[in-house]
Amino acid sequence: MKVHGTLRVPGDKSISHRALIFAALAEGDSAVTGILQSADVQSTAGVLRALGVEIPELSSSFIVRGYGRHLSQPTTDLDCGNSGTTTRLMAGVLAATPVRATLVGDASLSRRPMERVALPLRTMGATIELPPHGGLPMTIQGGELRDIEWTSAVASAQIKSAILLAALVSNVGAHVTEPFRSRDHTERMLAARGGAIRVSENHVYLAANSWLKPQDTVVPGDPSSAAFFAGLAALADSGEIRLERVCVNETRIGFLDQLRLMGTRVTEIDRRPEGGEWVADLVIAPNRLAATLVRESHVPAMVDELPLLACVATRAEGETVITGAGELRVKESDRIAAVVANLKAIGASAEELPDGMRIVGSDRPLAGRVKTYGDHRLAMAFGVLGAASGNAIEIDDQGCVGVSYPRFWADLAASHSA
Ligand code: S3P
Repeated sequence: MKVHGTLRVPGDKSISHRALIFAALAEGDSAVTGILQSADVQSTAGVLRALGVEIPELSSSFIVRGYGRHLSQPTTDLDCGNSGTTTRLMAGVLAATPVRATLVGDASLSRRPMERVALPLRTMGATIELPPHGGLPMTIQGGELRDIEWTSAVASAQIKSAILLAALVSNVGAHVTEPFRSRDHTERMLAARGGAIRVSENHVYLAANSWLKPQDTVVPGDPSSAAFFAGLAALADSGEIRLERVCVNETRIGFLDQLRLMGTRVTEIDRRPEGGEWVADLVIAPNRLAATLVRESHVPAMVDELPLLACVATRAEGETVITGAGELRVKESDRIAAVVANLKAIGASAEELPDGMRIVGSDRPLAGRVKTYGDHRLAMAFGVLGAASGNAIEIDDQGCVGVSYPRFWADLAASHSA
């Protein structure tokens, strides 16, 4: 298989959610350009609209008129679809808003753990009801909150952001510590909008009475979407692919670092600041692939790319071991069980670990049908593996990519040839 061409992947999903939320909470107009137009981001837009925010239909460029922190009592449940980011970030906003609201979602989202945000938000003073299994529906009675100093058991930008948003809306202070630094888009966007935020390694402090001014956002390309094409290039026999305007924020590019360690040629061109984030063009070309080791400290910067790394590892020489990645069990699917079961189903050598997995690479053809469990990242990771020479992989549900990358299959087809 040969990779070729130049591709601009869609806008970053994490930044897109936050662009809408911060535009809604500021007083005045914020232009949003290059937003990801996918089901997850539509969920955030829908929830904000149900709270009285005027958000036009998502398009390549539009304006959100924010009226400050004055959200209105919703008249329906707030449907977060498949989106954990919508649920957890909006839980933070709602905890500080004097309304009663119920967040609901699809079957996958409804199973995911919400106590991790409910606990700190209750500590701040919100009333939050969860069902016994700890997932959705989550009912929040928000109001005035108090300062918080919170140490999170897991490195999670969603937990950190929920606390920061609750503190921002309630005009109180927050200090959040995580075991390892997770993606920092909330901190960057707060700082760009005048928030009194200070970051020191894995500690974040937001001062009380932080001010939020409207600010335009130009959304860079999503490194988690770009990763699929970097993985495709790593698995190719020849050629190179160029990915334009990808966000290369250091809290997001662990997958590229691992690919380099495995031998793939990854070149960053014209690294430049754009709208408070670093972006670059990437050129990726194949080379002999060697196995790699992923430890807990590596996980936050590549948490969504681990299923893809496991797929690439099937073609690497030696044994790839991923540990410290227990969070994968509570993503859109149990990504440890699902990835390993699928790898075995297509003939690869893989084994589950309690907090990760082990994959032994080979050059034997991999073939069979893969179950996505409705998980977009599984569909795309195995789609990429299926494009590698000799492989024949069928994906049971191609449509689930609409959550983060609706035109993925067309971009994949256009990026390689036999
Ligand atoms: C996200 C944070 C990550 C990631 C998710 C998006 C965000 O989740 O997996 O796809 O935008 O904050 P955690 O914060 O739970 O690790």
